[in-house]
Amino acid sequence: MAKMEVKTSLLDNMIGVGDMVLLEPLNEESFIDNLKKRFDHNEIYTYIGSVVISVNPYRSLPIYSPEKVEDYRNRNFYELSPHIFALSDEAYRSLRDQDKDQCILITGESGAGKTEASKLVMSYVAAVCGKGAEVNQVKEQLLQSNPVLEAFGNAKTVRNDNSSRFGKYMDIEFDFKGDPLGGVISNYLLEKSRVVKQPRGERNFHIFYQLLSGASEDLLNKLRLERDFSRYNYLSLDSAKVNGVDDAANFRTVRNAMQIVGFMDHEAQSVLEVIAAVLKLGNIEFKPESRVNGLDESKIKDKNELKEICELTGIDQSVLERAFSFRTVEAKQEKVSTTLNVAQAYYARDALAKNLYSRLFSWLVNRINESIKAQTKVRKKVMGVLDIYGFEIFEDNSFEQFIINYCNEKLQQIFIELTLKEEQEEYIREDIEWTHIDYFNNAVICDLIENNTNGILAMLDEECLRPGTVTDETFLEKLNQVCATHQHFESRMSKCSRFLNDTSLPHSCFRIQHYAGKVMYQVEGFVDKNNDLLYRDLSQAMWKASHSLIKALFPEGNPAKINLKRPPTAGSQFKASVATLMKNLQTKNPNYIRCIKPNDKKAAHIFNDALVCHQIRYLGLLENVRVRRAGYAFRQAYEPCLERYKMLCKQTWPHWKGPARAGVEVLFNELEFPVEEYSFGRSKIFIRNPRTLFKLEDLRKRRLEDLATLIQKIFRGWKCRTHFLLMKKSQVVIAAWYRRYSQQKKYQQIKSSAIVIQSFIRGWKARKILRELKHEKRCQEAVTTIAAFWHGTQVRREYRKFFRANAGKKIYEFTLQRIVQKYFLEMKNKMPSLSPIDKNWPARPYLFLDSTHKELKRIFHLWRCKKYRDQFTDQRKLIYEEKLEASELFKDKKALYPSSVSQPFQGAYLEISKDPKYKKLKDAIEEKIIIAEVVNKINRANGKCASRIFLLTNNNLLLADQKSGHIKSEVPLGDVTKVSMSSQNDGFFAVHLKEGSGAASKGDFLFSSDHLIEMATKLYRTTLSQTKQKLNIEISDEFLVQFRQDKVCVKFIQGNQKNGSVPTCKRKNNRLLEVAVP
Ligand SMILES: Nc1ncnc2c1ncn2[C@@H]1O[C@H](COP(=O)(O)OP(=O)(O)O)[C@@H](O)[C@H]1O
Ligand SMILES: [Mg+2]
Repeated sequence: MAKMEVKTSLLDNMIGVGDMVLLEPLNEESFIDNLKKRFDHNEIYTYIGSVVISVNPYRSLPIYSPEKVEDYRNRNFYELSPHIFALSDEAYRSLRDQDKDQCILITGESGAGKTEASKLVMSYVAAVCGKGAEVNQVKEQLLQSNPVLEAFGNAKTVRNDNSSRFGKYMDIEFDFKGDPLGGVISNYLLEKSRVVKQPRGERNFHIFYQLLSGASEDLLNKLRLERDFSRYNYLSLDSAKVNGVDDAANFRTVRNAMQIVGFMDHEAQSVLEVIAAVLKLGNIEFKPESRVNGLDESKIKDKNELKEICELTGIDQSVLERAFSFRTVEAKQEKVSTTLNVAQAYYARDALAKNLYSRLFSWLVNRINESIKAQTKVRKKVMGVLDIYGFEIFEDNSFEQFIINYCNEKLQQIFIELTLKEEQEEYIREDIEWTHIDYFNNAVICDLIENNTNGILAMLDEECLRPGTVTDETFLEKLNQVCATHQHFESRMSKCSRFLNDTSLPHSCFRIQHYAGKVMYQVEGFVDKNNDLLYRDLSQAMWKASHSLIKALFPEGNPAKINLKRPPTAGSQFKASVATLMKNLQTKNPNYIRCIKPNDKKAAHIFNDALVCHQIRYLGLLENVRVRRAGYAFRQAYEPCLERYKMLCKQTWPHWKGPARAGVEVLFNELEFPVEEYSFGRSKIFIRNPRTLFKLEDLRKRRLEDLATLIQKIFRGWKCRTHFLLMKKSQVVIAAWYRRYSQQKKYQQIKSSAIVIQSFIRGWKARKILRELKHEKRCQEAVTTIAAFWHGTQVRREYRKFFRANAGKKIYEFTLQRIVQKYFLEMKNKMPSLSPIDKNWPARPYLFLDSTHKELKRIFHLWRCKKYRDQFTDQRKLIYEEKLEASELFKDKKALYPSSVSQPFQGAYLEISKDPKYKKLKDAIEEKIIIAEVVNKINRANGKCASRIFLLTNNNLLLADQKSGHIKSEVPLGDVTKVSMSSQNDGFFAVHLKEGSGAASKGDFLFSSDHLIEMATKLYRTTLSQTKQKLNIEISDEFLVQFRQDKVCVKFIQGNQKNGSVPTCKRKNNRLLEVAVP
């Protein structure tokens, strides 16, 4: 996501005030309080307008990360909280975009964080400027020059464990695009006295300790050194180790940095050899030796060290030895050689060591410059970073402090000039009325020091060059004469008696009232230090060295170039270089970083008000603020101003269409601030009082809260709406998908149904076609078959004549004949017996003979019966005929019949002819008697029985009395019309007579006989043969009889008789006669 452009301001989330210009009220106390408050909240940077105040935190803060670099990159100066990166960014962009050379002036006292600040600036610029392999190498070389210079130029002091003991100004050069091309470093006044002597609690330059700690044994041997610090007089032992500093590791860093910067191996080696030589020089000791002239002459105590130095440097030992013993003074072709006493010898030794070291340092700077110098000759833009020693006030202040403080005076001067100039120019640019600002101008102090005719430095030079005895005292005297009336100069001896009674001011001192405070200088050493004298014998001895670096360091030792003119004094040299520097700085756009040390203990979190107060005073920070506020405390370009406050006025919120200035005018009118509180410049609004700004801020804050609510409201609405729209959209999508899905399903269903239906229809059609085809096929087959048969028939018909057409039939008939033949033959043998009652008959052999077989059986039976009958006599025949007749008449009609079958029909039961009783009767009857039997005649009137003899002859039926044989009735057969009887098992019967016949006068007869069947049969047969009429025999259980005139019904009642099987007869009335039968 693109980084959101949030317009922020310095004024956001401010702790105290981020810009001292806005401080209300403005005084020292509030100033310090504000710094302290911010310091306690880790806000170590505070602005005074465009000046950055930096308070040393003495601990690493997480505010220099690459992310922070990105935060500050391309942001306006006042946009974020105060930071050194903001200043660096401003400087770099103004250099790149507006083509203005820049300088960054870092001031502050020792340990205030100047060097760190300069490194931060450089690293920021390196991070934001162009990229690419070449550019990166340049950057790397520029950055890596720092560790090298720090190793040789920094030392632990009581104020700072890594105090820069030289002034450094570095020009970084850029091309038109803002890519770094290279750089030039200038160094100022290395504190070389440190090489031979260090104050208590301080160390020599780092490189000595680093070399001894970090060099390999092999390297140490080559350099003829020992690791033990205590072996070397020049190294103070009480603080040889610094807490948190790893000298050995730093040594490796330095060597690595040297390599990156571009030192050749042999160059690096030479440098270390010089360092070794300096260390060893300190170990050379002298002893006095009395000479003939009574003066002491110095002699080297132990020549071993000297020998090793000579081996290292390639100097002839005797030459060096002599140089330590004699001093040659040349004047006007005259050479005078004097011996040195022990003190002079030590002075010479130390001078040599100091010179060797400081020249080596200058050489290093030049060597680095050679490496980092821009390779092209195109026009360059320059950013200068000045990290120079700060104002120093010690207990004992000497020449060095004087020089350093002079430098600071000059810097303050340029600061005043440039700041005020800039302020003034801005007012003119913006067309604002300029009001004069009162401030302290330190030009007068600068003049005191540097004035060519009566300045202190000029005085000192004069003293140094003056023939005759010159001492520090004479110099002071001179000062007392010349500067006595100067307001900023104080001395006990000055003609002006002002200070005579000031006991705080010793006699051998003078005091200067610097802009940053009064400093008392010990005059001792001023002359020597200014002279910076190295005996010619020593420089010549050095020049004679075969060690090329050492030789190069002492060009004046070359006899061919002997220069009798005195070299420039240290003071004048410094003055000149400061002048050059000032000139240089004046051509550039200045950016200030004012470093403040919060405590003397190098400790984090401690804020010593008094110490800070002192620094604020001498840095003139309050004045700085006042100058800045003299006219207007706050100014801001119209665009950002309108952007920031436009919500305070209806016309400008949310958008102002016209020019920004008009918008701001409308805004301020609306807010009704007093007119004198603000002014409209060309491009900026100027606010006179911080109060007004704070009021603006307050209003803005309150308004922002309202706006936040509004934005919140709108945002919530928007969010809900968006959410709703999204939901709606989603719903539509889901619905569409669902519809699609359901339609798909439906379609699939329809499709599958269609397929089913289709398949059924197709199946049905196919089956129909198949059926038709089958039918067609069958028809075809039938046709074929019929045709075949037809053809067959035709063919057969045609060919029949050629076959034995009736063979089959004949064979069939023959076979049949044979079977029948065989059947009959077999039957012959299987015939059953001839008895008509034999039921046996052989089984039928063939089905088709079934009817034949049965017929045969019938015929056989008939035949057998005939055979049987043929055996009968006529009599027997008759009997059978009768029996047959009986059977025809009664079988199955009369229950009595079956019992009669086995009884032979005897007819004449009564043998009348034999019984004499019936002689008469026999005689009366001429005809043949067919039946003679006793029967019971039932009395017609009462039903009682009376025995009678029943006789049947061929023509008559006779009834006779049983006892007498007297014929009682005779009835011709022709008068008998009918015989009636029951169907029961009784022997009761009625004989009906023809009406009107003679016999019929009394009525029909009722009889009962045991041989009813026989009697009825015979009666029937006889009647038939006589009258040729069939006698009517009625078999019924109720019939009518004619008694005289009455027709009586005879009724048979079963199972009601009284005496066994004999039927009883009873006349009920005229009409009814009941017969009970068994
Ligand atoms: N911005 C900073 N952040 C953290 N520590 C710092 C910072 N500035 C300075 N220091 C600490 O203070 C010490 C002294 O700083 P230095 O820059 O060497 O002072 P100067 O050059 O002014 O004498 C440093 O070694 C470091 O420990
Ligand atoms: Mg420093």
